[in-house]
Amino acid sequence: MGKTTCASALALAAARKGKRVLLVSTDPAHSTSDIFERLFSREEEEIYPGIVGVEVDGDFEARRYIETVKNQIAKLFSSSVLKEAERQIELVSTMPGVEEVALFDRMGDLIVTCVDSYDLIIFDTAPTGHTMRLLRMPELMISWIAALSKRRKNLITLNRNIEREESGEADPILTTLERRKEKLELVRARLMQHNFTGFVLVLVPERLPIEETLRAAGSLRDSNMNICGIIVNRILPENLNGAFYQARRKQEQTYCEEIRRRFAEYPAIWIRQFETDIYGIKNLERLSEVLTGPNDGAPFG
Ligand SMILES: Nc1ncnc2c1ncn2[C@@H]1O[C@H](COP(=O)(O)OP(=O)(O)O)[C@@H](O)[C@H]1O
Ligand SMILES: [Mg+2]
Repeated sequence: MGKTTCASALALAAARKGKRVLLVSTDPAHSTSDIFERLFSREEEEIYPGIVGVEVDGDFEARRYIETVKNQIAKLFSSSVLKEAERQIELVSTMPGVEEVALFDRMGDLIVTCVDSYDLIIFDTAPTGHTMRLLRMPELMISWIAALSKRRKNLITLNRNIEREESGEADPILTTLERRKEKLELVRARLMQHNFTGFVLVLVPERLPIEETLRAAGSLRDSNMNICGIIVNRILPENLNGAFYQARRKQEQTYCEEIRRRFAEYPAIWIRQFETDIYGIKNLERLSEVLTGPNDGAPFG
């Protein structure tokens, strides 16, 4: 549809205006590397003057995440318990969903730690369903942590009752859980802060993308997130001839009308279909000019 293409063009446009941009690729397809014709690394690395790129890889982050958890656990338990604990962690690390948790954790870290170093952070996201699930992650994890904390507190109370002794020290597991919760709440607050985060929805004027994008917009709004605009991509060029073109053009006009009506509350940018596909800085420059230039909002000749 053009999500990666538009995210990259937007990054380029902002960098050209002197802004410091962080472009984060979160789609496992990682097309940003192809567009910039430069491999994005898992750590922040300048990929173009003014643009720092980073590729967040779910699988890699999951492994890094599990290692961190193991190290934390190693500090907390005696070696006899540790072996069993590590076995449990290995088991958990293969569970579905771990990759998403780790991916979100890394994105959260970038949001929290990079705010001061960049003027703009652009996330190039995966297709809608995947991204919507990712955005619901803090909420899910916060209630999960609350449940874990409760169990831990019960256990501590039980132990104290049995041993009849009060320990003044804070429980390290509870402290870790509390810290994680605080971070998740911070990231969630940032995502919902309308003057900090905005979602740009990219679609093409066809039936399925229209419906999919409307559902995504509804879901974002329900979660109190800010949709700052839509990009309607791949509008057909004008003045072409032939029955095939005329038929497509007619359909497109109907869908564009519908988009105007059903997305009326959002600012829209309309982008024409280029005569070639878009990769490499030269093509990207063309697109970034269209993205930031005067947009008369008129796909109709
Ligand atoms: N306006 C456009 N004109 C021509 N080709 C385009 C345009 N927008 C996107 N493309 C091409 O469409 C393909 C998919 O774009 P991409 O940005 O990877 O989509 P997504 O990230 O939504 O999957 C790419 O080959 C890209 O070059
Ligand atoms: Mg993409």
